[in-house]
Amino acid sequence: MSKIFSVPRGTTDILPAEAPTWRLMEAIAHKILAIYGYQEIRTPFFEETALFARSLGETSDVVQKQMLNLEKEGLSLRPEGTASIVRSYIENNIDKQQPLAKLYYVGAMFRGERPQKGRLRQFHQIGVEAIGPNSSTPFLDAEVIALSVHLLEAFGLSGFKLKINSLGSSEDKKAFSGFLREKLQKHLSALCEDCQQRFERNVFRILDCKNPACRDIVKKLDIGDSHLGSSSREYFTKVKDTLKTLGVFYEVSPYLVRGLDYYTHTVFEISHEGLGSQDALGAGGRYSNLVKDLNGPPVDAIGFALGLERIILAKGQTAEVNFVDVFLVALGEAASQKLFLLLNDIRHAGISAEMSYQSNSIKNQMRLADKSKARFVLILGENELKENVVMLKNMQSGEQEKVSYDTIKEVLKKRL
Ligand code: HAM
Repeated sequence: MSKIFSVPRGTTDILPAEAPTWRLMEAIAHKILAIYGYQEIRTPFFEETALFARSLGETSDVVQKQMLNLEKEGLSLRPEGTASIVRSYIENNIDKQQPLAKLYYVGAMFRGERPQKGRLRQFHQIGVEAIGPNSSTPFLDAEVIALSVHLLEAFGLSGFKLKINSLGSSEDKKAFSGFLREKLQKHLSALCEDCQQRFERNVFRILDCKNPACRDIVKKLDIGDSHLGSSSREYFTKVKDTLKTLGVFYEVSPYLVRGLDYYTHTVFEISHEGLGSQDALGAGGRYSNLVKDLNGPPVDAIGFALGLERIILAKGQTAEVNFVDVFLVALGEAASQKLFLLLNDIRHAGISAEMSYQSNSIKNQMRLADKSKARFVLILGENELKENVVMLKNMQSGEQEKVSYDTIKEVLKKRL
């Protein structure tokens, strides 16, 4: 027997019963993002591998372990959106068109991870990036964070937790990594295997390792905000104060470092405890140097991305499947011919309608009508054909009435 194919591991079909939830969330996002002044941008699903390596960091887990490459071409499927948006911002001189570009994207991302609950190889993000010379203001940090919370609330989520931190400027980050190496050196052999590698490659990631032994060691380091220079600390204080005035609840977590290299200053993550180990619904932060590092203008930027699969996992499928308004039931060949034309006609009038394309028994067709959950059934038999009427049945009340064939469209429009 020939093989029955399955969906690739770590990917999912979004089935018709699930699609309405996705559509609803996307519609909510488009609306709210427009209110905050964001414009949609669509970039390719793949880019030069080097773009991701330079942006996310050669030593980041995503680049080291999770890139899905199209090897010969030197291309990779996008593991996230920020690098592509910055590439496009530079390539299209968007800085010359608007002092502060507020861009957003909705789409699939790809990471070659070991699949588990909430961790997929193809997943979807809604992300925003605010880029420009005018973007370095605590107001914008607070607004972007508040926007991520606003979106989650609008999706119907509650019970999530917002953590924020500041990594400081790139000088602060350098000093901090030196401080961490010095402190962690004597604990090196007690760290987990991953963290032993991180010690060289990306020492910050040791701070958010979930291994209990590493956690114990990290806790004892007593990390406050001592790694921040005075202007970074002042900036972060303003961000926190502004969040308070906006009524956004947060927790400051000195262990929040994020896995992508481009971050500086404010970083944040929103988690939901119902999700298990992959509990981040979304995350983001400021990236002051990325645009410049990719040979663009020296402008600052901040953004975030929310993971749609995890949001749906946390809240469940909620939107109702759209059912048809009217199901057309025909008895006999002549009636089928006539109803097929009516079907086309009432669809053009904006009414959703279905019929059985085969002239089977009335019982059979009524069963299909039931299944379609149609609000009305319209029946055309031999007698109705002769009288130029149709029988209109309200499926909720069970009431039936004869309606002139010529006025049925108007009558339906009034009833629906
Ligand atoms: P990220 O933390 O790598 O950040 O991903 C953001 C969100 O995408 C995560 O919190 C999670 O909800 C979802 N996500 C990530 N990987 C997976 C996966 N394998 N399966 C399912 N969901 C996943 C970024 O991507 C940054 N580009 C965010 C950003 C924008 N920072 C600044 N601007």
